[in-house]
Amino acid sequence: MNTVQDHNREAWDDRAKRKLAFTNTATEKDFQNPLRALDGAGWMGESVAGKRVLALGAGGGRQGPLFAAAGALVTVVDVSPAMLEQDRAVAAERGLSLNAVAASMDDLSMFGDGLFDIVSQPVSTCYVPDVAKVFREVARVTAPGGLYVSRHKQPTSLQIDLKPTPLGYVLAEPYYRVGPLPPVPASPLRESGTLEFLHRWEELLGGLCRAGFVIEDVLEPKHADPLAPHGSWGHRSSYVSPYIQFKARRIANANSSAAKLWTP
Ligand SMILES: C[S@@+](CC[C@H](N)C(=O)[O-])C[C@H]1O[C@@H](n2cnc3c(N)ncnc32)[C@H](O)[C@@H]1O
Repeated sequence: MNTVQDHNREAWDDRAKRKLAFTNTATEKDFQNPLRALDGAGWMGESVAGKRVLALGAGGGRQGPLFAAAGALVTVVDVSPAMLEQDRAVAAERGLSLNAVAASMDDLSMFGDGLFDIVSQPVSTCYVPDVAKVFREVARVTAPGGLYVSRHKQPTSLQIDLKPTPLGYVLAEPYYRVGPLPPVPASPLRESGTLEFLHRWEELLGGLCRAGFVIEDVLEPKHADPLAPHGSWGHRSSYVSPYIQFKARRIANANSSAAKLWTP
């Protein structure tokens, strides 16, 4: 029994049933330009039509149906059957086709090597203790030259208190840590009921390189608002960016220096 996986499966099933944050399906507006809704940065190019896409840790009826509407051959992997049910329901409503697979992102053994042209992962690596395992599996299932676009919670943001003290935002959690982050009340940053893990920069950036990716671009989606009230999400985000987004390319030659650096 994998306790973290089981815990988070139940937590996300429950969140989906209660329609909590990040369980929203795609909106009518999203479907007007599905690729733009998925990829505001334009990292996936002009079109994903005909591309084999893995939407990883992406259940909920948003990313999967939007990729399908954009013409991709999409497989959604998520640990939560309730989140995947939303993908099936939205796809059925709109006459779209997608493959929804219940699995954990760190074990993609049901897929062959190099099966996907694009892997797209919304914020979700925080729910597994070992992000290196996820990156190794993604590298294996991504075709040489394929793209891996992923979003993550920024480690510093996970260390900092949600509300400021009179001295400002306090760095409360250790950077080097074992086990999940302490539970917190529901907030825009943390999903109550789930077990979440902080992944250090060397695990995120170095982990991608060691798994066989080259990082082509990095974005910090901006949530800062200088006019936001003291202690609000926009105020806190002016001090620390909550998320980080990577564009990584699977290196074609597994014997390259970056690939050799990785020793299991
Ligand atoms: C923040 S949601 C992201 C998806 C959502 N559609 C969105 O737009 O943000 C995080 C997702 O990660 C999934 N998840 C949690 N642990 C997982 C695991 N070990 N393997 C795969 N998915 C997992 C959850 O079930 C949830 O659907």
